[in-house]
Amino acid sequence: MLYSEKVMDHFQNPRNVGKMDDADGVGEVGNAVCGDIMKIYLKVEDGVITDVKFNTFGCGSAIATSSMATEMIKGKKIEEALELSNKAVVEALDGLPAHKLHCSVLAEEAVKAAVKDYYDKNNIPYDPAMFPTDCAHCEGCGH
Ligand code: FES
Repeated sequence: MLYSEKVMDHFQNPRNVGKMDDADGVGEVGNAVCGDIMKIYLKVEDGVITDVKFNTFGCGSAIATSSMATEMIKGKKIEEALELSNKAVVEALDGLPAHKLHCSVLAEEAVKAAVKDYYDKNNIPYDPAMFPTDCAHCEGCGH
């Protein structure tokens, strides 16, 4: 079996799919390799992520990782969402085939972009180095 049960479950029954009209932070990223796009919406109250939605125009692995990522950051502090790594998401899904690992990067980047948007909208100061624009962490994905 190429995909774990958890990947299949999150692909077939993705959690937190949808849009949010009154989001406090929105992040949209694209994958230069395959052209897929992902959008993540955050609702933030008192520094805590109270709701998350995602919308993706992407493959099954991108759907599964976004679904898992939204579950992992819901109810967490906004700073904790920044610590979410694609590796942690992949581990929570019991792994992905090597050639699909680049798909998981999309979820991590979309979460970070949404947090940055939240910081920008609320004039919250941050270190720009926290949001690298190059893809140094994304080894070998061809970005
Ligand atoms: Fe594009 Fe997976 S093939 S995100």
